Amino acid sequence: MSFDLVLFGGTGDLAWRKLMPALFQAFRHGTLPAGGRIIGVARDDLSDAQYRDLIRSRFDEVDLNKRPTPEEFERFAQLLHFLRLDLSKPADYERLKKLLEERQADTVVMYLATAPTLFTTVCEQLAAAGLNGANVRLVLEKPLGHDLASNREINEAVRKVLSEKQIFRIDHYLGKPAVQNLFAMRFGNALFEPVWRREHISNIQITIAEELGVEKRGAFYDQTGALRDMVQNHALQLLCALAMEPPINAHADAIRDEKLKVLRSLKRWTPEALDQHVVRGQYTAGTVDGKAVPGYREEPGVDPQSSTETFVALRTEIANWRWAGVPFYIRTGKRLAEREAHIEVNFREAPHAIFNAPAGATNRLVINLQPRDGVELHMLALGQENRRNGHTLAPVHLDLDFDKRFGSERVGAYERLLLDVIAGRLNLFVRSDEQEEAWRWVEPILEHWRNDARDPRSYAAGTWGPPAASAMIARDGFCWPEEC
Ligand code: BG6
Repeated sequence: MSFDLVLFGGTGDLAWRKLMPALFQAFRHGTLPAGGRIIGVARDDLSDAQYRDLIRSRFDEVDLNKRPTPEEFERFAQLLHFLRLDLSKPADYERLKKLLEERQADTVVMYLATAPTLFTTVCEQLAAAGLNGANVRLVLEKPLGHDLASNREINEAVRKVLSEKQIFRIDHYLGKPAVQNLFAMRFGNALFEPVWRREHISNIQITIAEELGVEKRGAFYDQTGALRDMVQNHALQLLCALAMEPPINAHADAIRDEKLKVLRSLKRWTPEALDQHVVRGQYTAGTVDGKAVPGYREEPGVDPQSSTETFVALRTEIANWRWAGVPFYIRTGKRLAEREAHIEVNFREAPHAIFNAPAGATNRLVINLQPRDGVELHMLALGQENRRNGHTLAPVHLDLDFDKRFGSERVGAYERLLLDVIAGRLNLFVRSDEQEEAWRWVEPILEHWRNDARDPRSYAAGTWGPPAASAMIARDGFCWPEEC
């Protein structure tokens, strides 16, 4: 199957940091369909050879399991081409059309790795040039808008020129191996389903912690904040994967219908809930990994008076039969103590105690997304103390490390998702109604903050966020894993 992948924003950060390395990995793994072209598109004036050189030099800066040998890169580079294109100039799209017509590939992927404000223009121009045929697939990177209205505007503009089946909205968290394994664990095994409900689970915690600050994206991030950057998309998608009902099959719409129901069942915010159940924080100077780092307001591009949140912790519930009354906690932030993403599923206590057990010790299922990728099952067993009195329990855990089990050359998130786009598999992409529902749910929080004159709560870089996040969960009698 031949393909042309047109990468708008072909010289931008996302292209060389994530997309090119992912395409290279697929090429190296032999999974990239043969006979493809990757066409970088941007305003720069580059020849194919210069574009290949640019990508080659950037490869030194990215995280690749194994550096490409010069011969290996050379073979990959043969797929790379470049086209100078001004996104607002119809004549440039005609040149793109001509380039594509040279080959008549089975599939043409238009990947918009540009600012979302340009999505509508690009779609209109593509349609005007007749580049919206049935073999075209469009990939949209987040953020898709900054609120419900702007998200809808983009979705409407895109749907005018392409059908929903041709639109691939990326949430790269869905491409992470651990997230796909979460689906496999829940819906490929009979073991968990009977206990995956309110009768057995006391609370679920989702943590996506980053050590990095805002890097070079200060100006963008200051207009965005953690709620829009991480919660509206990645964290809510994780929550859906955890809470959804089993889909009737593995088809994209069967899965997306179930995720949508979860989003629709999220408890609506009341003013009291907003005050008590959502904590926003912002980092001040501190130490990360032994290095002194500046506070958020000192970062380049950030307003020195900024009240943008770099941390969010919140508590929500899902109002349906399976989950009523079970708190779901989400926590994410920049410049936290560690780079770590995991989900903790905490089970209820044994209903009747006949052993001595450490206070509060219960079963936990931990799904590790990164840096390790695997599952831990925490249980209680008769440990050392047992020698003395025969009935004292100690916590132990089973540890399934997928990297060790399946080898570290596993398929990365962008690699998986790019291959899926080329193959036309929509399972791991987000439908417009899911996205809109997620915006609908976060909007009251944004609105509340807009009207709140108080600054976000501060936390020193290198810590786990403001103490209010611990107080929030402690009110329910629970704790974050590093505090328990
Ligand atoms: C992106 C956010 O969507 O996800 C970034 O815009 C964030 O701010 C990144 O750093 C985190 O992704 P990962 O895969 O490194 O956890």
